[in-house]
Amino acid sequence: MKIKVLGGSTSKKSINKIWASYVAGLFDEGQVEVLDLNDYKMPIYDEDYEQEHGVPFEAIKLIEKLQEGELLVISLSEHNGSYTAAFKNTFDWLSRVESKFFKGIRVFLMATSPGSRGGIGVLEAARARFPIHGADIVGQFSLPFFDENFKFEKGLINQQLKDRLFEEVNNIKHLFK
Ligand SMILES: Cc1cc2nc3c(=O)[nH]c(=O)nc-3n(C[C@H](O)[C@H](O)[C@H](O)COP(=O)(O)O)c2cc1C
Repeated sequence: MKIKVLGGSTSKKSINKIWASYVAGLFDEGQVEVLDLNDYKMPIYDEDYEQEHGVPFEAIKLIEKLQEGELLVISLSEHNGSYTAAFKNTFDWLSRVESKFFKGIRVFLMATSPGSRGGIGVLEAARARFPIHGADIVGQFSLPFFDENFKFEKGLINQQLKDRLFEEVNNIKHLFK
């Protein structure tokens, strides 16, 4: 199984990058590649810019990378109830290259935040929107209170959440059998 991993943040110490990489590691038979929005920086989307310059090469490159994968393990960071500006900008550019840029990709959609809601606002936004762009959402998980529930040496330490996560992961693994 070819797995691509993405955190919806440009922060160097992004908890969503850490979380997505941890979860991807649970798919033990996977060939995992971690992508970073910082490697695909694009100007702020603007119609006039697009008319003058076309779409940035980075948008095309990122779609190619995503399309190489069979499963995208993505964890979205929540800013004011929705996507980070960096992720939304990337999303907008990708949709200008090809509306169905997630076509044929199974997506494990997640979010985490330091607070009690675990990024549920951004998760819901993505759950409603990603399929319009071709994503097949095969699992969903939100991790609240990241700092309390996740430890670098041990991973996820909340047993109830761990059981739910492993159930999601196992369900997804079955799809590839
Ligand atoms: C501008 C801004 C808005 C935020 N809004 C929310 C929010 O709506 N809900 C939430 O749970 N956390 C919010 N946070 C806290 C983020 O979840 C936290 O910074 C988290 O670490 C971001 O994810 P990242 O580390 O993957 O970038 C916000 C943080 C910033 C800087």
